[in-house]
Amino acid sequence: MLNFNFYNPTEIFFGENQIAEITKAIPKEAKVLVVYGGGSIKKNGIYEQVSEALSEFSWGEFAGIEPNPTYQTCMQAVSTIKQEDYNYILAVGGGSVIDGSKFIAAAANFVGEPWDILSADTEVTSALPIGVVLTLPATGSESNSFSVVSNSETQDKLPFASIHVQPKFAVLDPQVMKTLPQRQLTNGVVDAFVHTMEQYLTYSVDAKVQDRFAEGLLITLMEEGPKLVSEEVDYKVRANVMWSATMALNGLIGAGVPQDWATHMIGHEITAVYGLDHAQTLAIILPRMMAEQKEAKRDKLLQYAERVLGLDITDEDSAMTSAIELTEQFFHSVQMKTRLSDYGIGEEAVDKITEQLERHDMTALGEQQAVTLDKSREIIRASL
Ligand code: NZQ
Ligand code: ZN
Repeated sequence: MLNFNFYNPTEIFFGENQIAEITKAIPKEAKVLVVYGGGSIKKNGIYEQVSEALSEFSWGEFAGIEPNPTYQTCMQAVSTIKQEDYNYILAVGGGSVIDGSKFIAAAANFVGEPWDILSADTEVTSALPIGVVLTLPATGSESNSFSVVSNSETQDKLPFASIHVQPKFAVLDPQVMKTLPQRQLTNGVVDAFVHTMEQYLTYSVDAKVQDRFAEGLLITLMEEGPKLVSEEVDYKVRANVMWSATMALNGLIGAGVPQDWATHMIGHEITAVYGLDHAQTLAIILPRMMAEQKEAKRDKLLQYAERVLGLDITDEDSAMTSAIELTEQFFHSVQMKTRLSDYGIGEEAVDKITEQLERHDMTALGEQQAVTLDKSREIIRASL
């Protein structure tokens, strides 16, 4: 197992009616900017619960963070913060609102052109404090230090990371999932599943706890995911998926182990060009990535086949093939499509996405830097 430090300072309030806890979690003297998206929180009672909890605070709001948050919209929020002296951000939404809030929090304190945080990896040295009320379990953003922001003018979708934007606390009330459309529930299950795979399906460093923890998340998502998108969903199903999504990307299973992320990097380019939802892109690429990297990932792929899928691995090659097929079938079982052509995207995508990867220096992806531009091109072609 590789050396590692693990530190996750996000305080979690998990369970029913926990939104009220934000009253205690935010410092009394804070001037709070509530940041949210396109207005779902006004239709499902979350906005009222947040307003109630903030009744003793000085606060205002910024609406309109879009799915795949844009630099342009985030910079409008930065202007509001500077004009009205806000010093605390409460993000109320899914990954997009949280990621947008992280960028806003960093940009508000940044000296220079904030776009450099994304395009030039300029280090973030401070940020406004952020609290989160999560409304869509998927990304894990509520309890990690990553953010992905898009530039609507240049077709760039770029990540940054900083401990300074790690949320101080996150409220996870599974009841908020009641109003999520099936498409977003599906996205959440698939994103959490692929986050786990990106940190598990690499090569073994004998990290037994991380491996078994990751296997527990994969099994849970495979068990509960199909239930979540069916008609009869109860609180326990929502709670298990919500907790899985947070644990999949809060640093725990990735501590001390190699990490892949090649599927994510190709997926981000597909979203930047064609606007597909983040998780939709992952379900398209992952099965083809697994097939292309089958030999490099042989040991872990067999471990996945045996311990997660319960397959007999005596015939190794057929077990690996079945494991890839069952992974794609799992995506179908949560009503997720797995081909670019399912979204009307054709042959032209092969060159277009490969060019995007090249433009962003994504030419040696994966835990061994083995996914060259040529391999990415073949993976995209195989995903049509
Ligand atoms: O904008 P509103 O009106 O709130 O509607 C949203 C949005 O249209 C809606 N929604 C959210 N909660 C709801 C709800 N509708 C009804 N009831 C609720 N309770 O759902 C739609 C999608 O929301 P979004 O936040 O875009 O989805 P998600 O959480 O999947 O976030 C995706 C973004 O996160 C990034 C992705 O790239 C993408 O930009 N990621 C962030 C990561 C991170 N920070 O660690 C890692 C991920 O790999 C990912 O890249
Ligand atoms: Zn993701």
